[in-house]
Amino acid sequence: MATVAVVYHSPNGHTRALAEHIAQGAKSVPDVDVHLVEIRGDQVSEGRWSDAATMELLKRSDTIVFGAPTYMGSLSAVFKAFLEGAFYPFLGQEWKDKLAGGFTHSASQNGDKLFSLQQLAVFAAQMNMQWISVGDSAGNNWTGGTIYDVNRLGSWLGVMGQTNVDEGPDAVSAHGDMVTAERYGTRLAELTARWAHGQEYRIRRHTAEDFREISAHSAAAAAARG
Ligand SMILES: Cc1cc2nc3c(=O)[nH]c(=O)nc-3n(C[C@H](O)[C@H](O)[C@H](O)COP(=O)(O)O)c2cc1C
Repeated sequence: MATVAVVYHSPNGHTRALAEHIAQGAKSVPDVDVHLVEIRGDQVSEGRWSDAATMELLKRSDTIVFGAPTYMGSLSAVFKAFLEGAFYPFLGQEWKDKLAGGFTHSASQNGDKLFSLQQLAVFAAQMNMQWISVGDSAGNNWTGGTIYDVNRLGSWLGVMGQTNVDEGPDAVSAHGDMVTAERYGTRLAELTARWAHGQEYRIRRHTAEDFREISAHSAAAAAARG
């Protein structure tokens, strides 16, 4: 059984919603064990994060997906403390050749989310991990595009989510970020199965028609939820 851990910080629940959708997508892949792990502020003392159970789980995971809100144009301080808490696995090269992925959520359409994803990718590189891109074409970039499109924020490095400041976490499921996160989770889990057990992997190169069909499903799902 291959293991995927989705590790996130989310004081107000929006990033958690993205994490849950990634986990849901990952769970759709057979023989992959998926764990959701929350990083909390109360695990940080005098600027240092620690939690032995989390580190033990991450040590035996084949893939780690990292997610945090974007605060002041970079990763939230609590999540950064968690990354710094991986200093001993860094020294021991314990996470070398695990697969890695990332996601972030913020309020503004852009909000400098790319910088947060870059921080995560650089962290993964320092840990000698293998970074996995989003794998979907950009949506909402033509006259017929909508917020329900898969990859509607056009991010390839990792998944971006955006919710207006006056909307709660439920709104994360009301646009294309939900389907983008789910598809990323599935991609990560399938690649994990391939990486960990040499299982067959089919490269899915979607056409423009496939893309519109996926986005139409996303819009219909959002309409059904009201
Ligand atoms: C201290 C702080 C800084 C923030 N900085 C940004 C920012 O740079 N860009 C942005 O778009 N949103 C920014 N926001 C909005 C947060 O990104 C948004 O509230 C967050 O993604 C919610 O995530 P959560 O519900 O998982 O906690 C900021 C919010 C706070 C509290």
